[in-house]
Amino acid sequence: MSIRVVELFAGVGGFRIGLEGYPRKEDSDYHIVWSNQWEPSTKSQHANLVYKNRWPEANHCGENIEEVIENRFFEIPDHDLLVGGFPCQDYSVATTLKNSRGLIGKKGVLWWSIEAILRRKENKPKYLMLENVDRLLKSPSKQRGRDFAVMLASLNNLGYAVEWRVINAAEYGMPQRRRRIFFLAYHNSTDIFRRINETEIKEDWLVTDGIIATAFPIKDLTEKVKRGSIQKDLIKVSEEFNLEGKDSPFENCGLMINGEFTTVKTKPNYSGSMQTLGSKLIDKQEVPSEFFISDEDINKPKGWKYLKGSKSEVRETKEGFKYNYSEGSMVFPDALDNASRTIITGEGGKSPSRFKHVVEQDGKLRRLTPIELERLNMFPDNHTKLEDITDTKRAFFMGNALVVGIVKKLGQELSERINENINQEQFA
Ligand SMILES: C[S@@+](CC[C@H](N)C(=O)[O-])C[C@H]1O[C@@H](n2cnc3c(N)ncnc32)[C@H](O)[C@@H]1O
Repeated sequence: MSIRVVELFAGVGGFRIGLEGYPRKEDSDYHIVWSNQWEPSTKSQHANLVYKNRWPEANHCGENIEEVIENRFFEIPDHDLLVGGFPCQDYSVATTLKNSRGLIGKKGVLWWSIEAILRRKENKPKYLMLENVDRLLKSPSKQRGRDFAVMLASLNNLGYAVEWRVINAAEYGMPQRRRRIFFLAYHNSTDIFRRINETEIKEDWLVTDGIIATAFPIKDLTEKVKRGSIQKDLIKVSEEFNLEGKDSPFENCGLMINGEFTTVKTKPNYSGSMQTLGSKLIDKQEVPSEFFISDEDINKPKGWKYLKGSKSEVRETKEGFKYNYSEGSMVFPDALDNASRTIITGEGGKSPSRFKHVVEQDGKLRRLTPIELERLNMFPDNHTKLEDITDTKRAFFMGNALVVGIVKKLGQELSERINENINQEQFA
């Protein structure tokens, strides 16, 4: 069986590696038939260089997805699964009289590119696998949960059921504490949709029967299950959702089908092996000298020690306004016997920082090398290595990417369910 995949916002190909393997495993059920990546406001498209270097045969498009959709929609081939990690933005919607569809999301807001592909494709993809930061469930601050509600409403209107979970990769034995929301959507033409629809007690799907629950088991529920409905009218959802409520109604685990959602706070259930930051380090002899931090850089004013440390001080704004600023200390150096903290896009470069990782190796302090950052995301070693691509840029790619092991597990479970269904149909 071959599941045709379109990879949006592809970066350096985290979804592709997770689904196909790298190099692509011959028996992989997944086949990326088209991918797209474009970095706004920069001429050099370094992620595309990496992508094309790794997959020279790829049907890869390096242009703004909004322009592709607007001018050359026909280029996006039919596919079974749409995947992508996209930024958390403002998903409010508005009407304009000029717009014949009557409804638009703001330009540059990438959710609407996903929505447009789903809406305009005659042969809609049957499945979606999407990733985002976990605050999506709670944003914006004045109308908590509205953005996710807009997404659920648009998927519901397009005929999809959605299951979601916030997954911290380290809680399932992966080497980085990276907490992200993953959601899977199933079109109403699929057997999976039918099964969810037939499940009377929806929390059974969330706790045991669902695809996410099988790939990433959770403990028996101890928290109260909450339910609610999502309106069909996107503008109403945008304008009216949770106007009075202080908290988002969406918990870290949930399911929406036919406009009704069931959601509950859950805890991971994992007792397998754990991976540590220490186990991902390369030998000290292989670390280029610029990654080591001198005593001077550690101790100087506004140096590493100061930035990592706790502080309580008076600061002044540009306008001369004085205020008290305080913050606690960071672990310095980072613990080697635990999964790493979240990799951030600013992880590269020599300048001292509060958030960059610093490790102590054989008595010396240093930053992490690009290979180590790749390992923490479970990418192959040197995946992003290419002439003219700086270490800082490589770190940026990893800050933007995802822990590949999560996509791999979700992909395995999804393809098993799809295969199960095909086999059942054959013997029916
Ligand atoms: C969160 S990152 C996804 C990274 C990817 N999952 C990976 O493994 O590397 C989002 C990506 O979307 C890209 N992007 C932003 N705006 C875009 C647009 N208008 N069209 C296409 N890609 C865009 C960014 O350059 C970035 O690489």
